[in-house]
Amino acid sequence: IIEHPAGGYKKLFETCEELNEPISAVVVGVIPAWLSGSLLRLGPGMFEVGAEPFYHLFDGQALMHKFDLKNGHVTYHRKFIKTDAYVRAMTEKRVVITEFGTAAYPDPCKNIFSRFFTYFKGIEVTDNCLVNVYPVGEDFYACTETNYITKVDPDTLETVKRVDLCDYLSINGVTAHPHIESDGTVYNIGNCFGKNMSLAYNIVKIPSTQKDKSDPIAKSEVLVQLPSSERFKPSYVHSFGMTENYFVFVETPVKINLLKFLTAWSIWGTNYMDCFQSNETIGFRPKQPGEGRNEPVSDLISQLSTR
Ligand SMILES: [Fe+2]
Repeated sequence: IIEHPAGGYKKLFETCEELNEPISAVVVGVIPAWLSGSLLRLGPGMFEVGAEPFYHLFDGQALMHKFDLKNGHVTYHRKFIKTDAYVRAMTEKRVVITEFGTAAYPDPCKNIFSRFFTYFKGIEVTDNCLVNVYPVGEDFYACTETNYITKVDPDTLETVKRVDLCDYLSINGVTAHPHIESDGTVYNIGNCFGKNMSLAYNIVKIPSTQKDKSDPIAKSEVLVQLPSSERFKPSYVHSFGMTENYFVFVETPVKINLLKFLTAWSIWGTNYMDCFQSNETIGFRPKQPGEGRNEPVSDLISQLSTR
């Protein structure tokens, strides 16, 4: 028996089946009759395909959950999102797309020439949208942190289509934690290449529902670009702050080694996680005895007006 690398956290790494139709949930206590609506959540739901495991918690294939609340009753439904990563893994019974902590290997059944071709073609970016779901206009999109987001039908949980944000915006990826204004406008941030291919961060905006019913994503725009403090190492961006008048961006010490990232795609067995490193010269240092206040070593906290 091979021990799963997750060790004692096995429950988190359990694979489950999707449901054909919603089931009735057991309610403990009382849910007010006036509380109605749907709660959508995402997470990893499949940790093996064929004989291959997905190693990291962020690598399990996207499973969408829905709790429908009506008249004090709750029904529960779940479906896998039919991303390219999922569909191709299920079809080929192996990990086809490299995930955060799991590398995909070329199909061993293919001959030496097609393997050679794969070597130069590089590894595709994952669309495994297991992290979050957010509204864009009247639509709902499941997301991870790459350039792909996946439109889902919130009623049936069926997968509608995949959208490549690179078709609309100059970004390499955006975070899974956008901010949504009360009118439905979506704000997000992501790594990008700025002037002369220098690294930067773009804050982007997707407008709310369009009067002519057109797709708001088609009207996406970059609001502002912030330069990276290091030439070849952008910081990993998990999320950002937004107030009524400001964006707050902290360039963290968690760095993506871009040279490693680019070369890694030509080395089999490398995943996203391998390209992360910590820059211990920036960031906040703990207060020493006798020191009055914490001095941020980095002065890269940028505040920019949204208006
Ligand atoms: Fe997160």
